[in-house]
Amino acid sequence: MSEDKKILNSLAVTIGVLVVIAIIISVVATNLVEDKVDTAKEEMKILERIKPLGELATTLEEAQKASPIVEEPVVAVAKEPATPEQIYNTACMACHASGVAGAPVMGDVASWAPRIGQGKDVLIEHAIKGFKGMPARGGSSQLSDEDVIAAVEFMIEKSQ
Ligand code: HEC
Repeated sequence: MSEDKKILNSLAVTIGVLVVIAIIISVVATNLVEDKVDTAKEEMKILERIKPLGELATTLEEAQKASPIVEEPVVAVAKEPATPEQIYNTACMACHASGVAGAPVMGDVASWAPRIGQGKDVLIEHAIKGFKGMPARGGSSQLSDEDVIAAVEFMIEKSQ
């Protein structure tokens, strides 16, 4: 072998060794990076697992961000309006079914006739403001004018 060939050969071997070293380094480096990524993922998982079960949300927006199932609160609770009969049953019947304190009994046409003769407006006014033994709104102050009017009309209708 000539000197030149020897040099070329050792050069080739050196390059070969360098290439192998480079490959090893890159493999190790890739593994290290992957390890780092895995560790980060693992940490996220642990954090996810140990996070508190509930977090306090002070606004609706926060609550909705935290949980997609939080819905807008229903502001006005839909409530069936009471029927005239229900109003009568709860607020008027106590006296007007039996004639307590001289209350005209519902359905007693004879005792209602002269009262109805005064006109519906007078009856409504007496029912809302009170009249002799008849307390204002029958004593149920939470009733609206409309409620009382509906009850009066119901009683008139049943007493004609
Ligand atoms: C605590 C007993 C009592 C309750 C409850 C009551 N009433 Fe009366 N109501 C009376 C009495 C007593 C009279 C008779 C007053 C009179 O003319 O001397 C009367 C009379 C009336 C009259 C006739 C008024 C007039 O000018 O002749 C109407 C109408 C009436 N009530 C409606 C109602 C309605 C509507 C309710 C329920 C929202 C109701 N009342 C609940 C005792 C009651």
